[in-house]
Amino acid sequence: MGFLSPPRRFLFGPGPTQIEPRVYEAMAKPVVGYLDPFFFQVNEEVRAGLQQVFGTQNDFTLAISGTGSAGMETAVSNFVDPGTKFLVFSAGYFAERIAEMGRRHGATVIRFEKPWGDVFTEAEAREAIERERPQVAAFVHAETSTGALQPPQAISRPAHEAGALVIGDCVTSLGAAPIRVDESGIDMAFSCTQKGLSCPPGLSPFTVSPRAMERLQARKNPNRVWYLDLKLLSEYYGVQHRYHHTAPVSSFYALREGLAAILDEGVEKRFERHARVHAEFVRRVEAMGLRMHVATPSHRIPNLNTVCVPEGVDDALVRRALLADHGIEIAGGFGPLAGKIFRIGMMGPLATPAGLDQFFGAFEKCLVTASAPAVRM
Ligand SMILES: Cc1ncc(COP(=O)(O)O)c(C=O)c1O
Repeated sequence: MGFLSPPRRFLFGPGPTQIEPRVYEAMAKPVVGYLDPFFFQVNEEVRAGLQQVFGTQNDFTLAISGTGSAGMETAVSNFVDPGTKFLVFSAGYFAERIAEMGRRHGATVIRFEKPWGDVFTEAEAREAIERERPQVAAFVHAETSTGALQPPQAISRPAHEAGALVIGDCVTSLGAAPIRVDESGIDMAFSCTQKGLSCPPGLSPFTVSPRAMERLQARKNPNRVWYLDLKLLSEYYGVQHRYHHTAPVSSFYALREGLAAILDEGVEKRFERHARVHAEFVRRVEAMGLRMHVATPSHRIPNLNTVCVPEGVDDALVRRALLADHGIEIAGGFGPLAGKIFRIGMMGPLATPAGLDQFFGAFEKCLVTASAPAVRM
């Protein structure tokens, strides 16, 4: 077979995104055992770093083994039981995945649906919550399928007034955009490592509010998903260190190093950098005569831009040319947005003025090559 030799790529898609070089170096360090004191030291550093990027003092903050969907299923399986009234605010693909998990766990799922790209106002959320009286509500903070950023308090405020817990999918926002879990009232937030944290996929950062911890402690029946049972996981990662599963040690090294890079830069400075790059991205897109899919600027995810595909342009051809000629990966739309949007991530080491120049230099060329002759200048 010889040695593995992946192609050189610039990951300007929604994820996985470009990885910090020091993260790769950390992954090559020697593996220790899953009960080694060094592993638990790394785990404590991971937990402390995650508290900072989540913006929380929640003691129950850890990394679940598995990708973002494992975090999603952790939230659903520990807090949504057969018969639970589960209200899902759905304006995109990933909210639908949460609803599907709720169904599989036997919940009574109610979907409050809006078009892909919209967000929910507090008045809309309050009306739905007062009507349905759910025990648990869920929303996607940064809906990767549409580019829309949902203000969390619009949902958490009315949900808490009605006594409901709130699940927030922060898979695309963590590490690049402020979430401020404690202020925003999210009770169970989950994320991934391969987007705003600039690490490879493999772990799902997770945090639980004290309010949700009380609900968890009061559970009578064990979680049906043994692997994602937070009570069992807390016995492994907590003081008892009781074996639960073989933690993916190299992934923890990677996350520890990715978080260290973020803390070295400064969490707020990193958010500001992504916001500045986003503003410049939008300015350049509009200067090209293109439109952003999400109309309201404050409702756009700062690290994942969705740009409308112009008339006469085949988005698949543009993506293919970007990859083949420039080694640049971006993504297209799917579901109702198939063929209609480009999804372009500006994250981590690529969220810089040089990253913008590199991307736009290639994008402008590929748009011309992929345009129908009538559209070509
Ligand atoms: C908003 C959102 N939620 C959940 C997921 C699922 O995460 P994963 O693919 O890491 O399992 C994704 C993946 O892109 C996502 O963007």
